[in-house]
Amino acid sequence: MIRIEGVSAGYGGGLVLRDIDVEIAPGQATCIVGPNGAGKSTMLKVICDDLRPTQGHVDIDGTRVTGSGPGGAIRHGVVMIPQTNALFGGMSVRENVLLGGHATRMPRRAAARRFDELAQLFPVVGERAATHAGLLSGGQRRMVEFARALMIEPRVVLLDEPSIGLDPKSRQTLDASIRALVNAGATVVLVEQNVRFGLSLATTGIVMEGGRLVASADAATLLDDPELRAVFVGGHAEGKTS
Ligand SMILES: Nc1ncnc2c1ncn2[C@@H]1O[C@H](COP(=O)(O)OP(=O)(O)O)[C@@H](O)[C@H]1O
Ligand SMILES: [Mg+2]
Repeated sequence: MIRIEGVSAGYGGGLVLRDIDVEIAPGQATCIVGPNGAGKSTMLKVICDDLRPTQGHVDIDGTRVTGSGPGGAIRHGVVMIPQTNALFGGMSVRENVLLGGHATRMPRRAAARRFDELAQLFPVVGERAATHAGLLSGGQRRMVEFARALMIEPRVVLLDEPSIGLDPKSRQTLDASIRALVNAGATVVLVEQNVRFGLSLATTGIVMEGGRLVASADAATLLDDPELRAVFVGGHAEGKTS
């Protein structure tokens, strides 16, 4: 269980999140939706302690993650796959994936074993192990980012707009990877611009607008609610989200 209590946060004095209280259930996927600038990415940064809230805190399974310091979130089993490409283009796929085990000082042999498991799970990781990550397509890079995050067998996986820029085939692989994570017992929190894709993967949906939480409800119910739909598609043409 991720418990977010009384969280306000922002950048350089300006508040983005205002007094957020929400609980995220374990062992399932939760999707955060809302218009651009609603504070979705900021929320993920607060959960993984990348951004220290000005007020409030985040507990995961009763342990305070907020303020746990560099590498603290990873030691608590929390990994984030950010929106922007976070791979080192000049390093091989294998080196990039192995970096996922560094924060927890995973022993070499355990890391090598885990790498082989991940190469089974994500074929591109095995097939392109020696290739510089910078030479891969967007979809392939996303899979390598996934594999790197999974080095530590995380309890909580945060995904910021994972489907952006992916072709339909890569999106299917992504869909299957997220479902596999949940089946393996992980708690997944994803932010999606593609509301239909995100909510169809999730059990619960959280709607944000203007740094506030507007609703938290069953994902299927949210998809069918015309009023909330108006909020989270933010006036964009409906076709853009499907
Ligand atoms: N690093 C940053 N420094 C200053 N302002 C930021 C930074 N990141 C985001 N913001 C601002 O915070 C607000 C919310 O951003 P964000 O959490 O990225 O929204 P979303 O992910 O919902 O689109 C926006 O107004 C954005 O301009
Ligand atoms: Mg964002």
